[in-house]
Amino acid sequence: MPWRNMVIGALILGLFSVVGTGLVALTFKGTAARIAENERQSLLRNLHQIIAPTEHDNDLDSDLITVTDPALPGGNEGVKVYRARLGGQPVAAVLATRSNGGYSGNIRLLVGIRYNGTLAGVRVVSHKETPGLGDGIEAERSDWILGFSGKSLHNPEEKGWKVKKDGGQFDQFTGATVTPRAVVEAVYQTLRYYQQHREALFAEAPDSDDDDEHDDQHPDQHRDQHPDQQKAESD
Ligand SMILES: Cc1cc2nc3c(=O)[nH]c(=O)nc-3n(C[C@H](O)[C@H](O)[C@H](O)COP(=O)(O)O)c2cc1C
Repeated sequence: MPWRNMVIGALILGLFSVVGTGLVALTFKGTAARIAENERQSLLRNLHQIIAPTEHDNDLDSDLITVTDPALPGGNEGVKVYRARLGGQPVAAVLATRSNGGYSGNIRLLVGIRYNGTLAGVRVVSHKETPGLGDGIEAERSDWILGFSGKSLHNPEEKGWKVKKDGGQFDQFTGATVTPRAVVEAVYQTLRYYQQHREALFAEAPDSDDDDEHDDQHPDQHRDQHPDQQKAESD
């Protein structure tokens, strides 16, 4: 009977769609976990370019807070701060700040600052600057970004925290001033923020895992963690 064949056909189709959906869901679950782990390893590699694994004994990626404060570059959306400690004592903080002063949108940075306020290192995590002009900020393309290591708010003094074309100490690139200017400004503002908030940054309780999951899905919805205005001791 034709209706019987139709019912059987519909049942077979339904079965295929259920099995297919299940397979896709399983694959997605497995892949999502692998992607998360790959991202974690990549983050740790980046962080360890700035703070050597031997310099800390805590889990950098879980000793993490999210700071939402417009005084910090990129702080409107929330800036992740990874704390390094040795024997429970603060060693350094790596602030995942963001400059919107680049030629082509946001430049995402990791700014590592030792407890005493000197820069442990700066790395560019992502950017959309023009290849051959602005991409000299990548450590893979030039040594320019390595020049921040050892600098602090007082080395150079404030007027030196500009590119040479603007009267400061930092090189610009040939035909490209906008990109290095944006990075220098973001690093300087991050140092200033750190100086004003150091104690609070290290005292804050780490984000909970729930917050992390939430953050991964909605980067704009970080919980508001504006540390107290505690002044860090100057160097
Ligand atoms: C197509 C195009 C792409 C550019 N990309 C960049 C860039 O990625 N970074 C940059 O600093 N300047 C870039 N420039 C040059 C800037 O427009 C600017 O002239 C240069 O940075 C000097 O800035 P200043 O006059 O403020 O010193 C680009 C220019 C053009 C025409």
